[in-house]
Amino acid sequence: MITQKLDAINDYANAVNVASEILKSGGIVAVPTETVYGLAASAYSDDAIKSVFTAKGRPQDNPLIVHIASIDMLNDIACDIPDVAYECAKAFWPGPFTMVLPKGDKIADSVSAGLNTVAVRFPSDKTICDIILKSGLPLAAPSANTSGRPSPTTASHVIEDLDGKIDAVVCGNDSSVGVESTVVSLVGEKPRLLRPGAVTPEQLRKILPDLIIDDAVLKQLKEGEKVASPGMKYKHYAPKTNAILVEGCSNSFVRYVNQKTDCAAICFEEEYYSISVKKISYGSKRNESTLAKNVFAVLRDIDTLGVKEVYIHAPSKDGVGLAVYNRLIRACGFNVVTL
Ligand code: TXA
Ligand code: MG
Repeated sequence: MITQKLDAINDYANAVNVASEILKSGGIVAVPTETVYGLAASAYSDDAIKSVFTAKGRPQDNPLIVHIASIDMLNDIACDIPDVAYECAKAFWPGPFTMVLPKGDKIADSVSAGLNTVAVRFPSDKTICDIILKSGLPLAAPSANTSGRPSPTTASHVIEDLDGKIDAVVCGNDSSVGVESTVVSLVGEKPRLLRPGAVTPEQLRKILPDLIIDDAVLKQLKEGEKVASPGMKYKHYAPKTNAILVEGCSNSFVRYVNQKTDCAAICFEEEYYSISVKKISYGSKRNESTLAKNVFAVLRDIDTLGVKEVYIHAPSKDGVGLAVYNRLIRACGFNVVTL
């Protein structure tokens, strides 16, 4: 298959039109969103959804998020929608926020991988919204990476992983948030945070005061443990290089990595010039949003460093830092050193 590269920066209208036509005819297209690039397919087409699973090499039991471009579209996707879902929609949409709700009948069964629930998001990115409106389709879209690899925040990350495996890539701006959406389940007794993102627990608790943070957000699940979000159980984002997450202050981190050999450090910009091994900064330790924006690109760069081990300085778990920490601990296979 030849993957069309559609230039959404210089020829926006054409990119949106061609992408919509491909999606209407059952094809699969990578599109930018504010969180990460997504690999979109019609949420009504079982065949198109199956092509998404194949292109990504995604485990069959890991359901997809359906993207909509107005709150009205929610009724086509979910049923028995509780009032609190509309309150969340009003507070956090359009934006990096996904709700799990009871699944409506119109959506292809493969979207939910056999569950009776469906995850829905109304993104703020203009390009994906224009494609949804132009095609008239809700779009099921997982992140547009090969399963297990870091999520793509640029069109070139998508091409690196999926060139030749999908119909087209809409090449737009880099993702501004950089980590995938916050996922909250509203189907249990209490609302449950399944995946942290740029909408933080502090913000969520203003609408959902009894929010529970699922164990899988920060802990490794035991073999056979029941999981609320299937995506949580898979090894994710890992570089090929052995990666270790390091918790501690800047002085201790610098001292720790400087006495190691054949290794590299993923550090904060404040530490950069004190580190004597190979290093990449992923932003200031005081700015969790920048760390989020850079984290996946840095995880992709690790394997180009040619070292045996990489030590990643853990961010604070405040605000969007929790989302960055959640991705890094998975990238490190829950291998953590506390100094
Ligand atoms: O920001 C995002 O959410 C991006 C962009 C493209 O919108 N999408 C994304 O999709 O991250 P994906 O497939 O990489 O992650 C979806 C997550 C997985 O952890 C999956 O298990 C969970 O959402 N999920 C989807 N449907 C679910 C459901 N019905 N119940 C529980 N978890 C669900
Ligand atoms: Mg993903």
